[in-house]
Amino acid sequence: MSAAELLGQIADVGRDAWRGGYSRHVFDAPERELRTWFVERAQRLGLGVETDRNGNLWAWWGSPGPEAVVTGSHLDSVPGGGAFDGPLGVVSALEAVEALQAKEFRPAKPVAVVVFAEEEGGRFGLPCLGSRLMTGTVDADWARGLRDPDGVTFAEAIAAAGLDAGGVGADPDRLGLIGQFVELHVEQGRGLIDLGSPVAVGSTVIAHGRWRFSFSGQGNHAGATRLADRVDPMLPAAETVLAVRRLARGWDDARATVGRLVPTPGGTNVIASTVDLWLDARVPGVETPALVEEIAVAARDAAEGEGCELIISRESYSGDVVFDEPLRRALGEWLGAPPELPTGAGHDAAILAGFVPSAMLYVRNPTGISHAPDEFAEDADVAAGARALAEVLERLAK
Ligand code: GLV
Ligand code: MN
Ligand code: MN
Ligand code: MN
Repeated sequence: MSAAELLGQIADVGRDAWRGGYSRHVFDAPERELRTWFVERAQRLGLGVETDRNGNLWAWWGSPGPEAVVTGSHLDSVPGGGAFDGPLGVVSALEAVEALQAKEFRPAKPVAVVVFAEEEGGRFGLPCLGSRLMTGTVDADWARGLRDPDGVTFAEAIAAAGLDAGGVGADPDRLGLIGQFVELHVEQGRGLIDLGSPVAVGSTVIAHGRWRFSFSGQGNHAGATRLADRVDPMLPAAETVLAVRRLARGWDDARATVGRLVPTPGGTNVIASTVDLWLDARVPGVETPALVEEIAVAARDAAEGEGCELIISRESYSGDVVFDEPLRRALGEWLGAPPELPTGAGHDAAILAGFVPSAMLYVRNPTGISHAPDEFAEDADVAAGARALAEVLERLAK
């Protein structure tokens, strides 16, 4: 079945009527439905499917073993996300395996299709949680204690999914099986529109991280409290949002975003007692923490001006990543020299790149929009991406 047809099969799973697009978060009902669907599709291809200790799914063509050629992506989404970010890499991998089987290719190395858990951090706040846990780049106890917006811990969620929460953590044996990892992904900006190409090879990923700013003040009555008597955490939060844009402009090619701001208790006629906001900051090179420190200074000033407390905590950070040069060169040769593209988006491939030769393929997105319902890829480009991935898997696994 083609990647586009496979996407069609899951087009109704996890639709978000309120936000638009899809909301599929790790181990919630839609994401579990997608897992079941994936297992069934993989088994139809004769692949042996297992779930690892961190909730990542592995579908093996051949027995699991060393020097494996691994591809795949994720099935979770951001809140109200598009149809392609994540699933495109999974369905393209399934099409590529089926195409290679149809031409009776016999891989000399194990081939695996992986679905990583919680790539977006949409539920527990830490992006690439499944690959970070596998590679041991996040502390297992800390991860177990991460809470979703309803207060459910990752340990509770993984146990509810039927896995052993005590087993969460670094998985060096599994990591040691991976010879190369290649992730196909929808392009998340305008790169391929501008270059006029359906497919690109990934070059770099910009350093990025998430910081939580918690402002606390005095919850109170919106009508009965004179302006002079207020300690309203919404004010320093709002000043911080403006400072983020103003200060990020001072750094070359920086991106800085406040996409989530939560007042508690959140009543129209209530002065909030706390406001939490999350800063997503990305600057090429090593400058992201310096930009965040500038923002922190502005936030502390604003908090002090209103008499509020402020606690800032870093939730994640990943440095610049350069994908494996020999693997990139090989992909370029095998695929007829497609363009190379840097990206500001994070990926499991960027986590794995610190441990095994890793590469990415991007498929053109004619809207240039991602993490939103308007994310798109034409069927012809999806087919070109799956063909490119099949070519790469065949070359690597022969
Ligand atoms: C993940 O998609 C990210 O880059 O935020
Ligand atoms: Mn994403
Ligand atoms: Mn993604
Ligand atoms: Mn991503």
